[in-house]
This record gives sequence, C-alpha cells and structure tokens, in this order.
Amino acid sequence: MEKIVILTGAGISAESGLGTFRDSGGLWERHRIEDVASPQGFARDPGLVQRFYNARRAASAEAVPNPAHLALARLQRDFPGEVVLVTQNVDALHEAGGATGVLHMHGELASALCAACGHRWTAPAEMRVAEPCPACSAPAGRPDIVWFGEMPYHMDEILAHLETCTCFAAIGTSGNVYPAAGFVQIADAAGAHCVELNLEASSVRSDFAEAREGRASEIVPLWVDEMLAEG
Ligand code: OAD
Repeated sequence: MEKIVILTGAGISAESGLGTFRDSGGLWERHRIEDVASPQGFARDPGLVQRFYNARRAASAEAVPNPAHLALARLQRDFPGEVVLVTQNVDALHEAGGATGVLHMHGELASALCAACGHRWTAPAEMRVAEPCPACSAPAGRPDIVWFGEMPYHMDEILAHLETCTCFAAIGTSGNVYPAAGFVQIADAAGAHCVELNLEASSVRSDFAEAREGRASEIVPLWVDEMLAEG
C-alpha cells in the first residue's frame, strides 16, 4: 500500500498570518532562542517565556487554515493509501482544516505540561508564572512545547512511518532543525520518492529527488491534485 509521510513547518502557516522563525522579520530575529525556547530560559525568566507563548497562542487562536492546510486534509481523506501528517508547528491549523492524527513533534500551544509530574491539560488562553498543575498541584505548569535540548515527541512512531513510506514530502520548513531536517535521508534510504515544497530551496534541498518552489497556498493544492490523480 502507498504511504505518504508529510512533514510541515512554519512556512505552511505563514499565509494564515503566523510568523515563521528564520525568514527576515521572523520570530528568531526578535527573540533569543535561548531565552524563550530552552528549559534554562524558562528557569531564568518564566514570565518572559509565558508571555511569549501566550502571544503565540492568541495569534494562533485567531488564525484560520489556508488552502495548503485544506489540501492536505483533502489528501488524507481521498488518497487510497495512508497519509501521515507530521508537523513541527505548534498551532492547530492542520486540525482546523480537517486533518486527523497529526503528530505534533514540537508540542502544541493548546496544551500545558506539568514539569513536576508530566500531567498534560488544555492550556488556558493565558498561562501564568507558577501555573498550578490540576493533577499534583505543583506550581510547575509550562507550555507543552519541545524546547532546544529536549526530545521531540512521537519519534518512534515517526521513524517507523519514514522507514515504510513510499513518498515523503517536506512543506514550508527551512531544514535547519534536527531531527526533522534528517527525515528526508531516512525516507530516501527506504526507497521513498522525496519532494520538497517550499518558498525557496531549504538547507537540505540536495537530499530531495524533486523540489517545487512557491507559496504553500498555491503549490500544495496542485501537488495534492497530482497525488490524487496518480493514486
Ligand atoms: P523556519 O522559519 O526555519 O522556516 C520556514 C520556511 O518556510 C523557510 O524555508 C521559508 O522559505 C518557508 N516559507 C515561508 N513562507 C512560505 C510560504 N508562504 N509558503 C511556503 N514556504 C514558505 O521554520 P521551521 O523550519 O518550521 O522549533 O522551523 C523549525 C523549528 O525551528 C520550529 O519548529 C521551531 C524553530 O526553532 C521549536 O521552537 C522547537
């Protein structure tokens, strides 16, 4: 059976109004990664980190899925084989567009995590410093986001899918952050056709057999039409 594994990054949500990280004017130009996306930064200044993710949670709640999110949900629904969606994004736009079973490898803004007991719950719109855990009461609530130095989620499941896929597509990701940037090599070694769909060539462009450049809202629906026509 055909199996398509799709990896998405910030570029797929750019046209929904959510900022990317490394483009000019991106989030990492205005914030230091080590301040807002590391356990050490959270320990130093939890207020700054909560404010950063509260702002992103608010922006994400306002955003609506664009034609690229909708097209991937359509592919999942109509493709005769299996379509696995893996995202580095912490927004919920794939789900809002109708996708199911999305593997959020870098966590989700909608979720809160207790640093003391590991319990997860639905994040309030505004998380506070020392947010109490509803399970153990420790004042240890943090955004359920994978920070630098932490292990991405669902890795065993994702690797198993990559090793058995027939097609791998990376959409809207710059190829700078591992392990996600290395997925193409695993899929390629498994014999999958690997295609990159991005505004520009990513850092790992040469690992792909095929690349299409353009805005996700334009090139993704076209690619989905082709996959459905072939499938
Ligand atoms: P980046 O900001 O690194 O890359 C976004 C990519 O999307 C770039 O290659 C852009 O050219 C492309 N792009 C921008 N607008 C686009 C559009 N309209 N259509 C198609 N492509 C477009 O974002 P990621 O690769 O997702 O991790 O970043 C990976 C990880 O780095 C993030 O998950 C985050 C960050 O640090 C954590 O916070 C743990």
